[in-house]
Amino acid sequence: MVSLQTTLGDHSFTNVFMNASGVHCMTAAELDEVAASPAGTLVTKTGTLEPRTGNPEPRFAVLELGTINSMGLPNKGIDYYLDYAAAFQARHPGQTMFLSVAGMKPADFPLLAEKIQASGFTGLTEFNLSCPNVPGKPQIAYDFETTQEILTAIFKGFKKAAGVKLPPYFDLAQFDQMAALLNQYPLTFINSINSLGNGLWIDPATDTAAIRPKGGFGGIGGQYAKPIALANVRAFRQRLRADIGIIGTGGVTSGRDAYDLILCGANLVSLGSILATEGISAFTRLTAELEAEMAKQGYATPAAFRGQLKTL
Ligand SMILES: Cc1cc2nc3c(=O)[nH]c(=O)nc-3n(C[C@H](O)[C@H](O)[C@H](O)COP(=O)(O)O)c2cc1C
Repeated sequence: MVSLQTTLGDHSFTNVFMNASGVHCMTAAELDEVAASPAGTLVTKTGTLEPRTGNPEPRFAVLELGTINSMGLPNKGIDYYLDYAAAFQARHPGQTMFLSVAGMKPADFPLLAEKIQASGFTGLTEFNLSCPNVPGKPQIAYDFETTQEILTAIFKGFKKAAGVKLPPYFDLAQFDQMAALLNQYPLTFINSINSLGNGLWIDPATDTAAIRPKGGFGGIGGQYAKPIALANVRAFRQRLRADIGIIGTGGVTSGRDAYDLILCGANLVSLGSILATEGISAFTRLTAELEAEMAKQGYATPAAFRGQLKTL
């Protein structure tokens, strides 16, 4: 009998799958659909201090092997998602959900942290340090000094369970430096990876970029992202404190993809592009595929093969 039960910090989940922030989680109705699916947990759209309308449309497109988006963080604001979380906690006692938040400037992060600390939220907070799609704003976690300042400011007063959503890194020295930095803070988890920043897709019928914002530049997800996601999860698992868990995100379209992220060290696995293109039924399909793959390999739980990648 195969179980997909998993843990992150003190929190337990019946299934490793969850949605990735930004997909199927803007409204209470969408979040309720994830909660009612086989997914083990759910995360909100990244909320900012004030609601945002985001970038001009079209700002999302489906590509041959994934997606491109430059949404610009449209969201209903932190208060909306805190209200949703309060209602969720009342309806699902004992279950844990995630709240994703981001500042539009570094000084917003401690303000968001104070708001969540003062609220009745008992779940896990994901500080998004990696949105590549707000014109004029760099991805915070590519700037190690600013990342350090933000985390220091957050954890001055924040005592609840928290993690960070990271962009993909491509250099071993970056993994070393970022892991050493993260290991200084009381993090419960990291989520790796956010979209591959600033790709470009051209429609061959019209020689035109696929999306409008930023001259067509946007974050890439889906199958294009899988090798990068595997490497990031693996590299951080080898470098982070053992008590910091990992949400593996990027390129999951099959049960085997999720299995591979767990082999690299993931505790939970989140679905972005595939959830956007296939819809909520992706959770049912991928749960069945992962269970079948584990049965084939002779593993009863994710813990039995987590981090057990073999190398030559
Ligand atoms: C339409 C769309 C919106 C997204 N919005 C967010 C967001 O608000 N916050 C965030 O942390 N990541 C956001 N992401 C990134 C995803 O959470 C995920 O990290 C990325 O798409 C890689 O996963 P995938 O290969 O499964 O798509 C978004 C992705 C898509 C496709």
